Amino acid sequence: MERGCLMMLVTAVVVVVLGCWSVEGLGVNWGTMATHKLPPEKVVQMLKDNGIQKVKLFDAEQSTMSALAGTSIEVMVAIPNDQLQAMTNYPRAKEWVRRNVTRYNFNGGVNIKYVAVGNEPFLTSYNGSFLNITFPALQNIQNALNEAGVGDTIKATVPLNADVYNSPEANPYPSAGTFRSDISQLMTAIVQFLDKNKAPFTINIYPFLSLYGNDGFPFNFAFFDGDAAPVVDATTGIQYTNVFDANFDTLVSSLKAVGFGDMPIVVGEVGWPTDGDKNANVGNAYRFYNGLLARLGSNKGTPLRPGYIEVYLFGLIDEDAKSIAPGSFERHWGIFSYDGQPKFAVDVSGQGQNKLLMGAKNVQYLEKKWCMFNPNAKDLSKLADNINYACTFADCTALEYGSSCNILDANGNASYAFNMYYQVQNQDDLSCNFQGLATVTTQNISQGTCNFIIQIASSSTFSLRSSPLLGLVLSVLFSILLL
Ligand SMILES: *[C@@H]1O[C@H](CO)[C@@H](O)[C@H](O)[C@H]1NC(C)=O
Ligand SMILES: *[C@@H]1O[C@H](CO)[C@@H](O)[C@H](O)[C@H]1NC(C)=O
Ligand SMILES: *[C@@H]1O[C@H](CO)[C@@H](O)[C@H](O)[C@H]1NC(C)=O
Ligand SMILES: *[C@@H]1O[C@H](CO)[C@@H](O)[C@H](O)[C@H]1NC(C)=O
Ligand SMILES: *[C@@H]1O[C@H](CO)[C@@H](O)[C@H](O)[C@H]1NC(C)=O
Repeated sequence: MERGCLMMLVTAVVVVVLGCWSVEGLGVNWGTMATHKLPPEKVVQMLKDNGIQKVKLFDAEQSTMSALAGTSIEVMVAIPNDQLQAMTNYPRAKEWVRRNVTRYNFNGGVNIKYVAVGNEPFLTSYNGSFLNITFPALQNIQNALNEAGVGDTIKATVPLNADVYNSPEANPYPSAGTFRSDISQLMTAIVQFLDKNKAPFTINIYPFLSLYGNDGFPFNFAFFDGDAAPVVDATTGIQYTNVFDANFDTLVSSLKAVGFGDMPIVVGEVGWPTDGDKNANVGNAYRFYNGLLARLGSNKGTPLRPGYIEVYLFGLIDEDAKSIAPGSFERHWGIFSYDGQPKFAVDVSGQGQNKLLMGAKNVQYLEKKWCMFNPNAKDLSKLADNINYACTFADCTALEYGSSCNILDANGNASYAFNMYYQVQNQDDLSCNFQGLATVTTQNISQGTCNFIIQIASSSTFSLRSSPLLGLVLSVLFSILLL
């Protein structure tokens, strides 16, 4: 903590006022699959305001990169799974590196530290689609980075799902961890390559998913407060009181089993959603993050890997256009809601300094107008069809069982669906008709835990005002002033 702040003091007086807040080296995942995105400049300001020093992206989109330019924030850019095949061609991989990495490698550019090659490509649900192409893509990208002369500071890595390793049923403890048998050769080759290039192993760990769809899972074991009955590793005698430690140490053992027990590990994603499932709510998310951040702030590490852990929280802001194939909670992972406002008052210092999450500033909203079910509607025969239509193009996951709007009656359900659609459509008058079943109101029709939202004015609407170029010019000016 001290050292990080002092360095900032030397390099940038401006940053010092904003930094020094959160857990040292805390990262977040910034996904952008939302119908209405906050302007990237506001998001970057929010990162600074919260002292967040690292960000992991899911692509290398230009407007995001421009907003990050000139900041000291460390960036992990990414190659999505659907571009992995292309990256098995070396000239194509070099082109990706030229356009999305080295292009930003100048004073006042973007502080890129990692390239994520794919995103959880070995998930069993992908049926092996990416098994043959991920490693060639990884090699090409790292080799292209090396050839471009940036390989010493920028490392390629593959964010993997925690199902790439496990412990045998006969000895279900962390010390017995090995890579999944169907991909063990592939994993060994990848680990050898990462080691040769001094790149880290990146893993996503989700205690929430251990609980989801598994009612036998001991609830308290998902959290960090030590309330769970300890699980004792039969070989080492180590007591585990939470699934994060147990999972992380299973990876440490798996790496050790192939000869790389000291390989650096980055936790690419960890977090807790706030809606869309009976266990996904603000109370549980607060409990999880409060424990996680305190743990990270203490630099205690895990039993098999004591010390600092590099961690990226998942995620920064809710994404209302994410696929809900894995579950309705997928659109509710943000520590901030869609409009950049904190969902809970967690201490990001992780050291009891009460540095609470700070929301985005000067957010521009649409007008205070909602769309609701028209109580005077006579023909209700088309109601279900219209609700379905609304929910196909807007996010209705808060209506699901166990979610924040599951308290509504039938009319409330209709209003909720209609309003979500109306907001997605930027309150276009034509979008609040639904064959005469809907009407616009200026009364806030929220009920209890169920918030009927007003969308934000999309970043595209305001792109002229918050020009990325202006940001770049300003940051260059700042750098000059500071020299
Ligand atoms: C650079 O990244 C962007 C955004 O992820 C992608 O659309 C584009 O294809 C990449 N450029 C090259 C040359 O591959
Ligand atoms: C994987 O296979 C299952 C069952 O055959 C299928 O339902 C699913 O769509 C496949 N997924 C992908 C990503 O190909
Ligand atoms: C991967 O390669 C193996 C061996 O060459 C082949 O049998 C398999 O069909 C390939 N899988 C995919 C998804 O292309
Ligand atoms: C409201 O919608 C949800 C989700 O579709 C459903 O589970 C619930 O039964 C509906 N409530 C009423 C009163 O129709
Ligand atoms: C509407 O009311 C809810 C619940 O009282 C509140 O949380 C929300 O901020 C209000 N929305 C607006 C746009 O004023």
